[in-house]
Amino acid sequence: MRTVRFGVIGCGLMGREFASAAARWCHLLHTEARPEIVAVSNRRSPAFDWFRQHFPAIGQYAQDYRDLLANAAVEAVYVAVPHHFHQEVCCAAIQAGKHVMAEKPVGIDLAAHLAIAECAAQHPGIFVRCASQFMFFPAVQRIAALLERRAFGRVLEVNAGFLHTSDLDPNKPINWKRIVEFNGQYGVLGDLGMHVCAVPFRAGWEPRNVRAVLSNIVPQRPDGHGAQVPCDTWDNATLLCEGCDPATGESFPMTFKMQRIAPGEKNTWYLEILGTRTSVRFSTRDPKRLELLEYAGGEPVWGQVQTGYETAFQTVSGAIFEFGFSDAILQMWAAFLHELVTGQPPARFAGCVTLDEVTRSHHLFTAALASHANQSVEPVCQDRA
Ligand SMILES: NC(=O)c1ccc[n+]([C@@H]2O[C@H](COP(=O)([O-])OP(=O)(O)OC[C@H]3O[C@@H](n4cnc5c(N)ncnc54)[C@H](O)[C@@H]3O)[C@@H](O)[C@H]2O)c1
Repeated sequence: MRTVRFGVIGCGLMGREFASAAARWCHLLHTEARPEIVAVSNRRSPAFDWFRQHFPAIGQYAQDYRDLLANAAVEAVYVAVPHHFHQEVCCAAIQAGKHVMAEKPVGIDLAAHLAIAECAAQHPGIFVRCASQFMFFPAVQRIAALLERRAFGRVLEVNAGFLHTSDLDPNKPINWKRIVEFNGQYGVLGDLGMHVCAVPFRAGWEPRNVRAVLSNIVPQRPDGHGAQVPCDTWDNATLLCEGCDPATGESFPMTFKMQRIAPGEKNTWYLEILGTRTSVRFSTRDPKRLELLEYAGGEPVWGQVQTGYETAFQTVSGAIFEFGFSDAILQMWAAFLHELVTGQPPARFAGCVTLDEVTRSHHLFTAALASHANQSVEPVCQDRA
């Protein structure tokens, strides 16, 4: 098995998720490659403590990410920094010849993203993908199998979303994800949107136009030091699109909902596809349950399938066991490593989000901002990376 030596840039929430996944790589069976974290970078050094405690083999702790990129031992990097640094860090990593797993939204806005995509295009030997893990839930893999078999018949409607509840509390202190300067004009679109688009885009469906309604529900928050400060990002976004399947030319309504203030929803990613022959519903609210309606005439009846640990990349867990967030992260990283060393994913829905798909998400979010500002239906640019 090949070892790919990694640098982690950004040792916060997601940097630690990757390190944890790398530490239990033995959970995966039959993998082509494994990651080894040899260097980490974070602007502030207290974040290093956890890495020092758990990863004694890490040889470099860099407060300046450029020092990590100058390390010849580092072959690939995980860019898990706030959005305003995505362009600078991703472009520098690609130019330094490192393969990149970039956190969404891969650029704080369309211009930043296109600069990253252009940089990647100029370095075709560098493998660049975007992190988004929900495709790897077993129920979504089952939906993927139905998509591969074109089992849905004529698609009637697609509804996808990602709902959080934590910002319902107006006393929750502000952080960088609630400040336009660091999080971008997209607000919740940039934070949650790529996760919502990933499966519909991989299915090949295109949002041709969009009518968006965006809400800034909590316009100020405590700064953690006794003062109230502006909280200027969009909290919630609802997008109604005219979806199109280029393979059939058919169009259908497609809704994308991204909400930081969805009462009662902790970290709910959902997908509903309604078709003339098959319909499905899945939500991480109930991560084992896939609702399925297969129509062959007569009374349409929804059924429920209990999914187990049936994954794109096999693991030591038995197929009947439960699957969760950190399992999806592990599968996503298995997909990244597999495609990096073999040149292709084992299946269409077992590969990480491509830059092309990210570009399409940026065109959608940019059109959504215009739609809300103009109270208009905006066309969505279909240009690819
Ligand atoms: N895939 C997911 O489910 C998921 C979940 C949360 C966040 N994210 C994404 O991950 C990225 C990071 O988010 P997070 O929640 O881990 O944030 P975080 O605030 O927990 O961590 C970011 C870290 O980056 C460090 N940092 C900032 N600028 C830096 C620089 N120039 N060089 C090195 N380190 C720097 C910060 O000190 C911090 O430790 C964002 O792009 C976010 O959208 C993805």
